[in-house]
Amino acid sequence: MNTEQRQQLIAHAFSTHFGATPTLWCRAPGRVDLMGSHTDYNLGYVMTMTVDRDTWMAARPRADRLVRIASLNLPGGSEFSLDDIQPANNPEMRWTDYIRGVAKVLQDAGHPLAGFDGLIHSTIPLGSGLSSSAALEMVTAIVFQQVSDFRLDAVQMARLGQQAENQFVGVSCGILDQYSSALGRAGAALLLDCRDLTSRDVPVHPTIGVVICDTKAERQLVGTEYADRRRQCEEGVRVLQQRQPEIRSLRDVPVEVFERYKQHLPAVVAKRCQFIIEENTRVLELKDALPRGDKQKLHHLFHASYVGARDLYEIAVPAMEAMLNAMLEGPGVIAARQAGAGFGGCMVALVEAQFVQHFVPYVTQAYTGKTGVQPSIYSVAAVDGAGLLNR
Ligand code: GLA
Repeated sequence: MNTEQRQQLIAHAFSTHFGATPTLWCRAPGRVDLMGSHTDYNLGYVMTMTVDRDTWMAARPRADRLVRIASLNLPGGSEFSLDDIQPANNPEMRWTDYIRGVAKVLQDAGHPLAGFDGLIHSTIPLGSGLSSSAALEMVTAIVFQQVSDFRLDAVQMARLGQQAENQFVGVSCGILDQYSSALGRAGAALLLDCRDLTSRDVPVHPTIGVVICDTKAERQLVGTEYADRRRQCEEGVRVLQQRQPEIRSLRDVPVEVFERYKQHLPAVVAKRCQFIIEENTRVLELKDALPRGDKQKLHHLFHASYVGARDLYEIAVPAMEAMLNAMLEGPGVIAARQAGAGFGGCMVALVEAQFVQHFVPYVTQAYTGKTGVQPSIYSVAAVDGAGLLNR
C-alpha cells in the first residue's frame, strides 16, 4: 500500500466512523535498537534507529472536550472526556490508555487541551518490540499540540510520553522508545545519551542493510521480568555507591571498578550489572564501527551483546536462540542480536545490502523449519521522527 492508498483507506474509515472528513494528518515511527539493551533506564547509551513502519492518526478537532478514538488495526472505538481522564474499563480498549495517559500528563503539565476525533492506522506490528506503544503516544502528542495550539520541543514530548507510560499505563519503561520515535532522523542511527537526553547522528555504512527478524514469540512487558531487572540494577548501584559515593548509575561504573567491587553484590545482581556496563561500552564502540562498516567488529559487538543478554541479563527465550542461529546462517549476514526488551519479539541483523533479498527467504525458511512458526522478516530504513504527515 502506498501513501496515497493508505490515506484513502484512513479517510474512508474516518468518514464511516465519525461522519466527517479528517483535517489533520500526523505520524510517528517505530524504532529498533542496534545496541544498548536495557541501558536506557540505567542512564547509559543506546544506538537506536527509527524504522519505516509508523502509526498515523487522521484527526478533526472538536468544539467540546471529548476525545473519540478508533483504529483500523484493532476493533471497536472508545471515547473519554478531558475533564475526567480514566483508564479504559473495557479490557479490549486498554490500548487507548496510551492516548488517555498522554492527555493526562499534558494536562497535568499545564497545557489546556481541546477534544478531537481521531482514527489510527499503524504499520508497526503491535507488541513485537518495535515501539508501537511509544509511536501511539508520540502521534497523540502531535495531534494534541495541533488541535490545542501549543508546541513542545521533541525531548519534552518524549519525556511526557514516558511519564504517561510509567504513571498511567503502569509500565516502568525508560526513555528510549519515545525519544527514538520523537527525534529519529531519516538515513541515520542515533547515538542517544540517556542521562542528558542528547543524541547525534551515526550513519550506517551504505553497504549494510538493517533487517528485522520477528520471532513472533509472545512477549508481555507489563509482566514482572522487566521491572525485576530494573530493581536489580538499582540494587547494584546502591551497593557500589557505598564503595564509591560518586556513582549515580551503572553508567558511572568503569569495568575495572566493577571488577574490584563485584564480590560485594548478590550473584544475580552482579550478572545484571556486568551486562549493562559492558553493553554501554559496546554502544560507544559501535559508534565508530557502524559508519566505517567494519564487519568483523560489528559481528563481534552484536554477538557479545546477544551472549550477554542471554547469559547475564537473561532476557532470551528459546525462540530467540532459534532465530539467532537462523540469522547467523543467512546469506550475507554480518551481525545479529536481540532487540527491544527481549523475551521474544523482534531481533535485528546487519546484512550485506546486496544479499538482503536472499537473506529474507533463507531466514524465514530456516526459522520455520526449526520452530514450526512463520516469522516476519523485512529490511528497514531510518525515517524522520514524529510530526505532521506532510511537513
Ligand atoms: C523496552 C522499554 C525501553 C527499553 C527497552 C530495552 O523497549 O520500553 O525503555 O528499556 O525495552 O532496552
